[in-house]
Amino acid sequence: MTLASWKQVETEASRIAGTELRTLANRADIAPFIWAAPHLEVDVAKQPIDAAAMAAMQAVAAERGLEAKIADLFAARIVNASENRPALHWALRGGGKGIPAIDAMNREAAKAAAFADLARKGGLGFPLKTILHIGIGGSDLGPRLMWDALRDYNSAGPEIRFAANVDPEDFAEATTHIDPATTLVLVVSKSFKTPETASNAQLAREWLVKHLGEAQANNHLAAVSSAPDKAKAWGAAEDRIFPMDEAVGGRYSVWSSVGLSLQIALGADVWNRLLAGAAVMDEHFRTAPLSANTPARLAMIDVFLHTALGIPNRTVLAYAHRLRKLPDFLQQLEMESNGKSAADDAAGLVGRTAPMVWGSVGTLGQHSFHQLLHQGMRESAIEFVASRDAGAGDTARGRALLANAFAQAEGLLAGRSAAEAESQLAAQGKTGPAAKEQARHMHMPGNRGSTTVLLDTTAPESIGALIALYEHRTFAAGILWGINPFDQWGVERGKVLAEELDNALAGADPGKRDPSTLRLVSRAKR
Ligand code: F6P
Repeated sequence: MTLASWKQVETEASRIAGTELRTLANRADIAPFIWAAPHLEVDVAKQPIDAAAMAAMQAVAAERGLEAKIADLFAARIVNASENRPALHWALRGGGKGIPAIDAMNREAAKAAAFADLARKGGLGFPLKTILHIGIGGSDLGPRLMWDALRDYNSAGPEIRFAANVDPEDFAEATTHIDPATTLVLVVSKSFKTPETASNAQLAREWLVKHLGEAQANNHLAAVSSAPDKAKAWGAAEDRIFPMDEAVGGRYSVWSSVGLSLQIALGADVWNRLLAGAAVMDEHFRTAPLSANTPARLAMIDVFLHTALGIPNRTVLAYAHRLRKLPDFLQQLEMESNGKSAADDAAGLVGRTAPMVWGSVGTLGQHSFHQLLHQGMRESAIEFVASRDAGAGDTARGRALLANAFAQAEGLLAGRSAAEAESQLAAQGKTGPAAKEQARHMHMPGNRGSTTVLLDTTAPESIGALIALYEHRTFAAGILWGINPFDQWGVERGKVLAEELDNALAGADPGKRDPSTLRLVSRAKR
């Protein structure tokens, strides 16, 4: 690695590692660590960073040419070198007009919008009560997240059900108590060659034919893909195939026709508000100087925490029921984008790249894994995502939700000394050796940092801005790590092996494999 600026980052990291976080966080002025962005505010004042650390990361951003890379992204230049493509997810929110490829995408988006409107109005020839969305990964996680987040913005529309797994029980559950006669099946697959989706598409077609007959079945089918010829070969009618551009990555694709089920179920107004929220975040990321660029500065913190300080994972705690799928969505967005080790930049990598991302919905995690977060012996970069309008109008419960989120962050930082525990016990009349021993177990080290992303609301605009924030943060972090955030060469090998083992489980010669795999195959075959 020949990134001159990284040396200073390592110096700052070893300095910060030797500083007590509680001291660092009790800053005289926290303003530099409260970052504004459209529809939300980010509080990093409890993280192990300070002005000098951020300055060192800004120097890395400068040396990596982050500003120029951002300009490349929004100029639709090649930012995905290994696949020789631009990355055009931002253009789905209205950017890039006049660029031919983007004008073509906009024409396709208009077609999808017209179909969504027709379907909503019963124009398909049947009353539409359910959309069965079939897809996996980027063709599933974004729509699921957005459906949970926004479904009550248009409860008059049809419901969306999702089927993703090759396990037929997923499809069975998704089709429980729905009527094929009032269902539109939407098969979503960028490649249109994903085995799980092909399997569920076949189950769906059989389900429709069984209940509606061959002739009627096709009127209840539509497809979204960047391989329309494959969708046609599968049997979708040409006017029911909605293309998506190859330059829109699967994990960045919810804004494309991958989100067609959302457009139908939520309606054009809610859908356009979602896009508008993302668009203002795009504008912020495109135009804000790096010193005031919130997605870029979050990426700088990610690289500082996970590479310079070596914190191996990020825990995302979504303190809103409607955002319960956010951790799952971010797992793909961040780990499929930046879970790599091949340098894309001549200067090489600066160290270990993306963290594991996991998490859950608050307050549920408090009653399952927060014990380890508070008293365990593992580090994690913890991220709270909450909204000022928590509680959906129920003030007291919304207050309780926010109080829990803020309390967890405070407790992680403040901890509880054994002395504090002893005085708590003394107040209950418990003193002496037994109390002292109990206090030892009650000790909470504290000095555990966290970031809090506080949304203004959970309205469609805010949700759009939030997801765009994470998309741009992921891109910027990839650039800082020196990798390509837009390809995913690591996912193909498993598919090839699965096909070979499928044949072996069906009785074919398993060939040369490790003894464990051979035994598992022979045991499962029996
Ligand atoms: O295997 C990983 C992956 O290719 C993801 O990148 C993608 O979102 C998912 O599978 C589904 O792919 P497709 O939309 O082509 O079916």
